[in-house]
Amino acid sequence: MVRPRRLFSTRLPALQKVCDSTKSVDWDGWDFTHRDDLDARTGLSCAGWPMIASPTPDSIDRAARLLVSGRLVSFPTETVYGLGANARNPDAIGRIFAAKGRPAEHPLIVHLASATALPRWARTIPAGARALAEAFWPGPLTLILPRAADVPDAITGRQDSIGLRVPNHPVALALLGRFAELGGEGVAAPSANRFGGVSATTAQHVAADFGDEVAMILDGGPCRHGIESTIVGFTGEEPELLRPGALSVEQLARVLGRPPAAAGAEAPRAPGSLAAHYAPRTPAKLMPREELLAALGRLGGPTGHIAVLAHSVTQPPLFEGTWFDAPAHDAAYAHDLYANLRALDAREADEIWIEAPPDGPEWSAVRDRLRRATHRG
Ligand code: TXA
Ligand code: MG
Repeated sequence: MVRPRRLFSTRLPALQKVCDSTKSVDWDGWDFTHRDDLDARTGLSCAGWPMIASPTPDSIDRAARLLVSGRLVSFPTETVYGLGANARNPDAIGRIFAAKGRPAEHPLIVHLASATALPRWARTIPAGARALAEAFWPGPLTLILPRAADVPDAITGRQDSIGLRVPNHPVALALLGRFAELGGEGVAAPSANRFGGVSATTAQHVAADFGDEVAMILDGGPCRHGIESTIVGFTGEEPELLRPGALSVEQLARVLGRPPAAAGAEAPRAPGSLAAHYAPRTPAKLMPREELLAALGRLGGPTGHIAVLAHSVTQPPLFEGTWFDAPAHDAAYAHDLYANLRALDAREADEIWIEAPPDGPEWSAVRDRLRRATHRG
């Protein structure tokens, strides 16, 4: 696969600095950073940058109208930020693919204000899918269902299925609700990052990736989960886990009666399942604890060219590179993961060394993302 790395790495260095400088700001729930704050705090003008808007009723209304008119709006969800467009408007969908640099055959998830809109998009809703929707929506679960006949091909990558989700974030739900009041039926939204790159969990991440290619970014602060939704496919004989995510397999099993099957070769394509994905620009390596300790022990001379993301290994006294201690708890680790990868990437080290996470099932989504973020091929 050809990955447009150059494009990513040469874009918007100034704004990247803005983002880095705000990273240390103490985000406290709904405490927002806005364009004006960024200007004041950094001394850099954000003129010409996208509007990062506080999610007031006015800006939510404006965002919904922008969507109706075919523009791109980024909004927070409980998982990651989405890059939204009117799912019934093929031109608007085209803008998502152009902005992300995403190949056209990769399908998008349509976000709904509530499950009552499901029959508009899916031609059948298997009992298991209905049970999961009732149990977990709004929430970090995407269902892949047989598509309705009138769904635009641009959304589904010409597959016979469609991805649907009701996100659990007050700003997302307010936006989807207002959009529905204006006659909209669903908002197609991939994660708001360049194709193959690290997902966005703050409004500033979105601004760094897209600049003014997006008409508006609704700022909901950092995302609660920090890792994408769990995707369950209902297009075969039995439910299939297409992407591990914020909702655990144990939670799914409690409702389905057993865990979903592992995705088989016949499973619908999911580009999040490409071997390389979620990747920083800096070459990154996943290293079991012992391997990381040994490599650190072998480091002689200056270590400034190495950036480390550890969670149990402690920084050796003489290590002078970049060292991040990630949280030791799985949910907190996932919450910080993409912000950590982006911040490590910004250090422009020669290599990022990532301590492999533990083996437990509660780490499966994190392991999946890190495997892909560090894949060479
Ligand atoms: O948490 C999330 O799911 C976030 C937020 C914004 O909702 N969205 C997200 O979208 O992660 P994206 O496009 O980055 O990843 C969606 C995944 C892709 O791997 C895509 O291929 C898969 O869902 N997908 C969407 N529709 C599909 C379909 N009809 N069949 C199989 N996979 C599908
Ligand atoms: Mg994505």
